[in-house]
Amino acid sequence: MSIPSSVVIRDVGPRDGLQPEAPVPVADRVRLVEALVDAGVRHVEVAAFVSPRAVPAMAGAAEVVAAIDRRPEVTYAALVPNVKGAELALAAGVDEITVTVSASATYNERNVRMSIDESVVVIGEVAALAGATRVDAVVSCAFGSPYEPELGPGDAVALGERVSAAGASRVTYADTTGMATPRLVGQLLDAAGAGTTAADLGLHLHDTRGTALLNAWVAIERGVTRFDTAVGGLGGSPFAHGAGGNLATEALVAVLDDAGIATGIDVERLVLAAALVEELVGRPVPSGVAHAGPRTRRTPTSS
Ligand code: COA
Ligand code: ZN
Repeated sequence: MSIPSSVVIRDVGPRDGLQPEAPVPVADRVRLVEALVDAGVRHVEVAAFVSPRAVPAMAGAAEVVAAIDRRPEVTYAALVPNVKGAELALAAGVDEITVTVSASATYNERNVRMSIDESVVVIGEVAALAGATRVDAVVSCAFGSPYEPELGPGDAVALGERVSAAGASRVTYADTTGMATPRLVGQLLDAAGAGTTAADLGLHLHDTRGTALLNAWVAIERGVTRFDTAVGGLGGSPFAHGAGGNLATEALVAVLDDAGIATGIDVERLVLAAALVEELVGRPVPSGVAHAGPRTRRTPTSS
């Protein structure tokens, strides 16, 4: 076991969190990004440059990026499905492009209307276009797919190696439909072990079946230091059957705080950002920590 002393959290709430929701106005999406940054989040996926017909909630991505009061210490990322999205994201001035490709051929087709092979070519083109801007290839359905039941972590890692060879700066493995378990996280890390160390890859976890925090913890014990989470635990792909919310950022931060693993994030301020999410979507978020607070919170007894 090599437990890291710090972990980098990329909050994908303004993108993954809001994408399945009714559209939230640009100014409110910007407020959410800034609330996350105020809480100490240093890496935020702020928007997706996708077809507004495919994902109405992500319309106005360039306006979101333009309206953010940018801080130099923060990495502002945006998701793209294709070259057109990358051109728009680069023109908007993002710090990082996350490009999506799926280990599941059916999901890739549903999500970005391309074969896996076409997406690999696209990732090469996006990387060439991006130049010095980092391109993180997010391999979805990495722990299984509702469409191809035989798919396993080895297939995702093989695809991760292909997109790295095509030019992606790094790879994040996404549990799009919450099918990961500690056993499968171990298998993925074993499969990636040949050419990579755990610290080189990121994990993007969903909590559809209540295993996300467990999966994060076993990955941390194996040395993984990059995680995608979403404030409040909202999120999910509109194109994947059975997708559930992301691992809540405040749930992971609370556990990391307790373990003495640094994130730079103030969990109580994050809870305020989760309250803003509730205001924006008009209903309670699924995260327990958002409501109860971290275990370190104390209730005054004098009143
Ligand atoms: N951003 C904005 N518009 C885009 C675009 C992008 N990245 N890529 C294509 N478009 C536009 C085209 O210009 C075209 O517009 P027009 O009809 O006004 O001329 C229209 O979308 C259709 O283009 P086409 O290339 O035929 O796309 P498609 O209909 O096959 O859809 C995608 C392909 C990738 C654009 C679409 O499926 C998509 O945006 N998927 C993203 C899904 C997503 O965000 N999933 C979230 C989980 S990762
Ligand atoms: Zn996701």
